[in-house]
Amino acid sequence: MNFQINSFEEYQEAYKKSVENPEQFWGEVGDHFFWKRKWNNVLNWNFTEPDINWYEGGKLNITENCLDRHIYQNGDTPAIIWEPNDPTEAHRILTYKQLLQKVEQFANVLKNNNVRKGDRVCIYLPMVPELVISLLACARIGAIHSVVFGGFSAQSIADRINDAACKLVITSDGGFRGSKVLELKTVVDDALMQCESVEKVIVLTRTRTPVSMIKGRDVWWEDEIKKVETQGNPSCPAEEMDAEDKLFVLYTSGSTGKPKGVVHTTAGYMVFTGYTFANTFQYKPGEVYFCTADIGWITGHSYIVYGPLSQGATSLMFEGIPTYPDAGRYWDIVDKYKVNIIYTAPTAIRSLMAFGDEFIENKDLSSLRVLGSVGEPINEEAWHWYHEKVGKKKCPIVDTWWQTENGGHLITPIAGITPEIPSYAMLPLPGIQPALMDEHGNEIEGNDVSGNLCIKFPWPGMLRTTWGDHERCRQTYFATYKNMYFTGDGCYRNPDGYYRITGRVDDVLNVSGHRIGTAEVENAINMHSDVVESAIVGYPHPVKGQGIYAYVIANHHIDEESTKKDILQTVSRLIGPIAKPDVIQFVSDLPKTRSGKIMRRILRKIAEGEFSAVGDITTLQDPTVVQRIIEDAQKMRK
Ligand code: WT7
Repeated sequence: MNFQINSFEEYQEAYKKSVENPEQFWGEVGDHFFWKRKWNNVLNWNFTEPDINWYEGGKLNITENCLDRHIYQNGDTPAIIWEPNDPTEAHRILTYKQLLQKVEQFANVLKNNNVRKGDRVCIYLPMVPELVISLLACARIGAIHSVVFGGFSAQSIADRINDAACKLVITSDGGFRGSKVLELKTVVDDALMQCESVEKVIVLTRTRTPVSMIKGRDVWWEDEIKKVETQGNPSCPAEEMDAEDKLFVLYTSGSTGKPKGVVHTTAGYMVFTGYTFANTFQYKPGEVYFCTADIGWITGHSYIVYGPLSQGATSLMFEGIPTYPDAGRYWDIVDKYKVNIIYTAPTAIRSLMAFGDEFIENKDLSSLRVLGSVGEPINEEAWHWYHEKVGKKKCPIVDTWWQTENGGHLITPIAGITPEIPSYAMLPLPGIQPALMDEHGNEIEGNDVSGNLCIKFPWPGMLRTTWGDHERCRQTYFATYKNMYFTGDGCYRNPDGYYRITGRVDDVLNVSGHRIGTAEVENAINMHSDVVESAIVGYPHPVKGQGIYAYVIANHHIDEESTKKDILQTVSRLIGPIAKPDVIQFVSDLPKTRSGKIMRRILRKIAEGEFSAVGDITTLQDPTVVQRIIEDAQKMRK
């Protein structure tokens, strides 16, 4: 880990070098990894198609970097510490040696079930060590994983499986989440009614929830492991992968249409997650690092699995939720394992804040050294609570700004080394060249300015394409501004040159740190038989960051209360409970321009309760709708 930056001067030097000579810079970072064959060329790119190649000609396997290379000296170091949902159940520790053995074993299970290099594998599992084993086993043999978060519905799983034509699904009978049991296999069964590409389903036992096992299709994880054991040779050589071979696809929402499959490739993603993990958190050997995200999201991929493991770190994963059995659970975990670094989301901080300080005050948090935040802007109140109550004013907070498409941190403080200001993501990491753009496509230079945030130059962890639709990738990220990657975020650069992310500038919501497309929720609501049309906007929510406000035009004869419930059920079924609107307001009409475009700006103001701030409505087809919507909104608030 000698690519760690140790001082502000070193940061400045590294940054300068990364801009003046990016190939040399990333070549040197790449030298800290294990290659079966070294690359010929560090970078070959254009943003017009886009066509981005890092470490061209390099051959490697990411699991050799995450596992094998640590065995010799650190084989007995814990790779994964697993804390179960129920604190009275035994925890599990997998050392690097043990994790490698399990990954090889399960990689052989995948092979036995006809999975080959390049095949897609859908993973729908709770937060158990077998989830990590599944990802790495896919990577071991060159299969491309597509993890679907356990909160998504059968329909969402089916859409994702079909889009990538997955051949195999890995799931479990169920999952524990707080006091609930989620019936994961049943959800997969419902999904598979629509999926022809799936040949096999591997089912892990976790909850002993009754499941239907279909002959010829469904097999038990445990039985398959036994078969491998009786076959004799437990090892599984790491497939030689090209630097640009696909590692995984992960679906994320945008402002239009269905979620897109963000594609990350092998070498660049490995280098970038490893480099950013080691630097942002300043991880030191022997430390216990706890990321509270779910592996169903990019944060879990990059900062529970690949980043920490490639650096030989000890990564703690937690199966449960922050409020079970009570709102002190995170702090119990910190105390129990003497956690040094915790990486969580503002929404979790706000929700725990709301439960009151008695859940944190009597806990021993003295092991903590660094605090991380991710997923959405952290408001100052939450920042200060995190700083004072969790970090006892002695831990740096890294507010890490990045996106699924980015693979890893782009703009963030480096813990204890670069400055921090509450609610600011601060400075770009080496290799990252931000630009603020105006509406005419010009870069806004200088400080104390705001604009749309773009990145001018490639970095190794960036997405390469969107699955099955390269044109959509180009359109979404590379067409708005010439020769730039467009993030979809607005941003302010203060007089000192520090960056503050101000939120999305497109029709994408951030609800509890999860990205939700307004169009997707609208489409789901519109599926309800009594709905004529709908419009979704976000509004400030004290815990979730943004809440979902739905304006719905329904048929006249409906019973509003029961239709509301039906709409919630429809959204749950089509997307998942995470996309359920917090507020549903029935309206007779929506504010539209003469060309028929919904004026969301007005709807946003009404959702925020800023009734006098709706602004200019003279360009509307029918300006009187605004007053009617406001009156109803006022009634609802009473
Ligand atoms: C969007 C990306 C990347 C991990 C989890 C979310 C917002 C993320 C921050 C932050 C302000 C943030 C942005 C971004 N966001 N981190 N530290 N400060 N905003 O990943 O689902 O791909 O969403 O989350 O709006 O565009 P994601």
